[in-house]
Amino acid sequence: MAEYYYMNGSYVDAAKAMIHVHTHAFLYGTAVFEGIRAYYNEEEKQLYAFRAPEHFERLINSSKIMMMKNPHTTEEYCDIVKKLLKKNNYKENCYIRPVIYKSGRNVGPGLYDNEDSFLIITNKMGDYIDLSKGLRVCVSSWRRNSDNAIPPRAKITGSYANAALIKTDAHNAGFDDAIVLDEAGNVTEGSAMNLFLVQKNRLVTSAQTDNILIGITRNTIIELARNVLGIQVEERTIDRSELYISDEAFYCGTGAQVSPITEIDGRKLGTGETGAISKELQKLYFDVVRGKIAKYKKWCMPVY
Ligand SMILES: Cc1ncc(COP(=O)(O)O)c(C=O)c1O
Repeated sequence: MAEYYYMNGSYVDAAKAMIHVHTHAFLYGTAVFEGIRAYYNEEEKQLYAFRAPEHFERLINSSKIMMMKNPHTTEEYCDIVKKLLKKNNYKENCYIRPVIYKSGRNVGPGLYDNEDSFLIITNKMGDYIDLSKGLRVCVSSWRRNSDNAIPPRAKITGSYANAALIKTDAHNAGFDDAIVLDEAGNVTEGSAMNLFLVQKNRLVTSAQTDNILIGITRNTIIELARNVLGIQVEERTIDRSELYISDEAFYCGTGAQVSPITEIDGRKLGTGETGAISKELQKLYFDVVRGKIAKYKKWCMPVY
């Protein structure tokens, strides 16, 4: 069956969705995007897109920072996603990537005098990190781009060159991923996911102003920890050395979901096995995203 993407206001055959080689976004990394997951609930025969409105609110904010024209309201975006997923007839977990991009072909880095366009690509998607075992990670020798260079608060395609360097060097050194410091030496996040530490039964995560993408999964974890599990959460600046003496750690993100970390720079965390709080949050998260927890069903947008 043909797969559809959304491009230039219509649902098009994925095989025919092309951009020109002179496209500004391709030449200069001038696009903003989102990554959204939809989870299939087998018992309900329902596909749920997770926190789609929040993703589109962030997309709109990214487009503001990059002075790009936002073509739709959050409600319109959600409606397009529903129609697209329905057209693709997905009956399994999948991934949705909306992109606002500089589609003009004028040469030069300026964000003016070049039009903007909007597209959505989708694909079927399983876990992209192996969640069955704890991750071994390092602290990257690369630094996260700072708010006054390429703001990490905005999800800008060009800034993922930074993530690519971080991920590749970690991989080539035999690690699963890396933890990234900012120019001041404070802990920010992973290559493309947020980070939580567990210290004395409390969660600690970097402050919103510490050069991170303010993740929707991060917000989900904070809500679930505080209001379901009764765990205190601190959002604050984190020193590198805290990483080595934390009891547990995990990554979280749309892609990473909840991925426990068991070793950082050769130091085992806690017992060296996946920690109890990480495990509990991971299980709860997977129930929430599939619409299995009544209180949080409001976060799950039904497609069918
Ligand atoms: C750099 C970065 N940080 C954090 C995240 C997590 O954000 P979210 O939970 O909204 O997917 C992502 C994307 O997944 C990311 O690319």
